[in-house]
Amino acid sequence: MIGRLNHVAIVVPDIAAASATYRRTLGAGVSEPCPLPAHGVTVVFVELPNTKIELLEPLGPTSPVARFLQRNPAGGMHHLCYEVDDIIAARDKLRAEGAKVLGDGEPRLGAHDKPVLFLHPKDFCGTLIELEQA
Ligand code: CO
Repeated sequence: MIGRLNHVAIVVPDIAAASATYRRTLGAGVSEPCPLPAHGVTVVFVELPNTKIELLEPLGPTSPVARFLQRNPAGGMHHLCYEVDDIIAARDKLRAEGAKVLGDGEPRLGAHDKPVLFLHPKDFCGTLIELEQA
């Protein structure tokens, strides 16, 4: 059911410093920071030949990644995003398998303006999973 790895998301305390690490130290192509107030994050996209890395910095007091950063002050891997062809079919299959879909289970538009859902880490080897309809 799952297809390509769309991205790995890393929450960081300082997106400028993290961008410099990826651009200079690792030699990657890095976008300019893009504030997404509706998602409570500022995002930078690191383009790799086979996938993307998303660097996420909390934006605003109600950022969904602020607590993650409190628990992981140096930053850390936050989620993996897998592509699916049909997000509703994927959701229904996962629910039938007993997996917990976060929120109300209705897809919302993610950072790439594509429908996304999140799956509880307890069902997936301790890893928060995002599904994106590619
Ligand atoms: Co993501």
